[in-house]
Amino acid sequence: MHLLQPALVAARRRAPALVAWPGPEQLHNQRVSALADQLAIHYGLPAAQRRLVVWGARWHDLGKLELGPRLVNKPGPLTIPEWALMRRHPRLGAVRASRLGAPLAVARMIDAHHERWDGRGYGSGLARRQIPLGAQIISLADVFDAMTSERPYKRPMSVGASLERMAADRERAFHPELLDLALALFEAAAPRICLAA
Ligand SMILES: [Fe+2]
Repeated sequence: MHLLQPALVAARRRAPALVAWPGPEQLHNQRVSALADQLAIHYGLPAAQRRLVVWGARWHDLGKLELGPRLVNKPGPLTIPEWALMRRHPRLGAVRASRLGAPLAVARMIDAHHERWDGRGYGSGLARRQIPLGAQIISLADVFDAMTSERPYKRPMSVGASLERMAADRERAFHPELLDLALALFEAAAPRICLAA
């Protein structure tokens, strides 16, 4: 058994987790975890680091529990005050994850999952290699799944159009080498992961 296994199991038991929410969030988290794991494997991360990435991916939107489903699933554009709240969810999630026993590395991934390569994301304003690698992996999986999923406020985009949109953000939103890997992997992995979820 891996050293992290007991902590992972215990923390999952303690976690209220997004599974408490009906709706698409739970499946989104499962798909993001599966895609992030694929990316981590093909990037060559060691198993221990991959487990942390999967943990961070599964909990990446934990902070949304603090905001409530009415705001998160609002079927229309957010107001300025609502956006201000929404932008706090990475930090809220990181704090909550720490309280639930997640390692610091996982909390840092959650905190940074909306940072962008060019520093124009939200969180702490990190850029390029200041952003934890795990957060960059989660970000690619999260953006891809968000684009290809139906939400109360938008229709799904096709896999091809989503990958094209992501490719256009090379060196703006994403780590360039990781993006290249994601473009190659997600097209093949997405249908399987969607079916499994
Ligand atoms: Fe998020």
